Amino acid sequence: MSNSELETPILSIENVSKRFVKSLDLAGKIAQKLGARVREEIVHAVDGVSIEIKDGEVVGLVGESGCGKSTLGRVVAGVHGASDGRVLFRGQDVANLEGIEAREAALKIQMIFQDPMSSLNPRLRVQDIVGEAPVVHKVVNHSEIEDYVAQIMTRVGLDPSYARRYPHQFSGGAKTKNRYSKSACSSARFFGLR
Ligand SMILES: Nc1ncnc2c1ncn2[C@@H]1O[C@H](COP(=O)(O)OP(=O)(O)OP(=O)(O)O)[C@@H](O)[C@H]1O
Ligand SMILES: [Mg+2]
Repeated sequence: MSNSELETPILSIENVSKRFVKSLDLAGKIAQKLGARVREEIVHAVDGVSIEIKDGEVVGLVGESGCGKSTLGRVVAGVHGASDGRVLFRGQDVANLEGIEAREAALKIQMIFQDPMSSLNPRLRVQDIVGEAPVVHKVVNHSEIEDYVAQIMTRVGLDPSYARRYPHQFSGGAKTKNRYSKSACSSARFFGLR
């Protein structure tokens, strides 16, 4: 990676806002027709947030319940579009990327959920859970997957000889590491922990 690439923040969140419109249900619509002063509600989940994150930096987002942390994470991961503002990955507005570029940026931003079991299929071995995404996304060939998974497991501090175990055979912390391996395997560069 060139010096100028390293100087560009890996992620720039510029004045991002996210609003949700809560439409009226049937009862609300009928009440409105009958003249009641009810209307659709707008939830300002995220309001003008700007953050820059450079390579190797770890940023924690802290705030009371409902203040918009998860929503911001979802906007960054592309689950929700921003109502206002921009998300730049390595200086590029992710909303303007198309085709292969959009796919590559999406792969490089991964979420790690608080409850690892909700994102680890209990019926699959770790080898298959961790190995699925890199094969689907053509990060490695099928024949190389065993070595690749072992390499990633070692990188996150898991014994690669446990690759044939199921998620329930790991401790809580190790399950989270498995989730991390699953994300890391798709060549992610930025991780959002939720
Ligand atoms: N899909 C949605 N539709 C409507 N409102 C939403 C949606 N997602 C989140 N909200 C609202 O946006 C606000 C922020 O929610 P969010 O989940 O981002 O908070 P949080 O900071 O992650 O909270 P917690 O610490 O409890 O996880 C809340 O008022 C929530 O009800
Ligand atoms: Mg949350």
